[in-house]
Amino acid sequence: MNKQALIETARQLMAGNKGLLAMDESTPTANKRFKEAGIPETEEFRRKYRELIVTTPGLGECISGAILFDETVKQSTADGKSFISVLNDAGIIPGIKLDEGAKDMPAFPGEKITEGLDGLRERLADYAKAGLKFAKWRAVISIADEIPTDGCIYANAHALARYATLCQEAGLVPIVEPEVIMDGDHTIEKCFEVTQRVLHIVFEVLISQRVYLEGMILKPNMILPGLDSTQTATVEQVADETVKCLLRCVPAAVPGVAFLSGGQNPEDASAHLNAMHVQYRNKLPWALTFSYARALQQPAMDYWQGKDENVATAQQLLYDRARLNNAARRGEYRA
Ligand code: 13P
Repeated sequence: MNKQALIETARQLMAGNKGLLAMDESTPTANKRFKEAGIPETEEFRRKYRELIVTTPGLGECISGAILFDETVKQSTADGKSFISVLNDAGIIPGIKLDEGAKDMPAFPGEKITEGLDGLRERLADYAKAGLKFAKWRAVISIADEIPTDGCIYANAHALARYATLCQEAGLVPIVEPEVIMDGDHTIEKCFEVTQRVLHIVFEVLISQRVYLEGMILKPNMILPGLDSTQTATVEQVADETVKCLLRCVPAAVPGVAFLSGGQNPEDASAHLNAMHVQYRNKLPWALTFSYARALQQPAMDYWQGKDENVATAQQLLYDRARLNNAARRGEYRA
């Protein structure tokens, strides 16, 4: 394992108040979002949309890395330039989603286990050859009566750890994403308790599987009430609870934490990140940034509607959101 190369990639991904752009929607997820936005659900429209994203002028000023889906790795702009080279030319490091989705976990009703370990070493060799420098694997943990169980959390933590060591062997920085999802009517206190339990188990297993902590990035959820909860939380409360939870669980050896947005609207996702930096500037052992999909892309996708004449304005909307999250990383975001 080339530890120095991993440290250097992680440093570049966390540098300069930038953050990550998750554009790694699987085909079913991309189609679902297209359907909601009234965009044709075809490979060509997915290619056009991803071209819109990667060719957004100035994106590299705000985005350090972009997470791609396998289909996108092989796609090119209309004039034949591969998306990977467009990103590299823009100073954006290309990464890849490696998991093959969360499936129902046998014997654990209501819980999911993420698949994709079979053949992963060989896939990683191909992706490393294609120039990808980092990767992502998402585990899904749900909150409801009696769940999550330790059986589900340990199984997902083990898969995350196996994926992470294979990435590091191949020279790619693993983003470890154990997402406690927002669905449900649980309180912010419950989200804190579950996220803390999940992160403790994840790091216990990462360490036992010999994941090199200095060469990985954690992608967690923020601490929030469930989407159907009647409880409201202030921006400051979300920032406080999230940082408190991370400080209890994430070793200082980990260079960076990059949040998922998880269904928060773009403004909330920026405001929460901003408040963490206002309240904890220079007091945290790791870099704290964003790795959003919906909270960066949604305004652009909604405006685009699949129409060429809307591309320039949609790109401006994407750039604006990326810029605003840069400001949030400096604690200077204004809605
Ligand atoms: P959201 O920001 O839309 O939650 O997506 C982030 C992500 O990469 C989920 O795996």
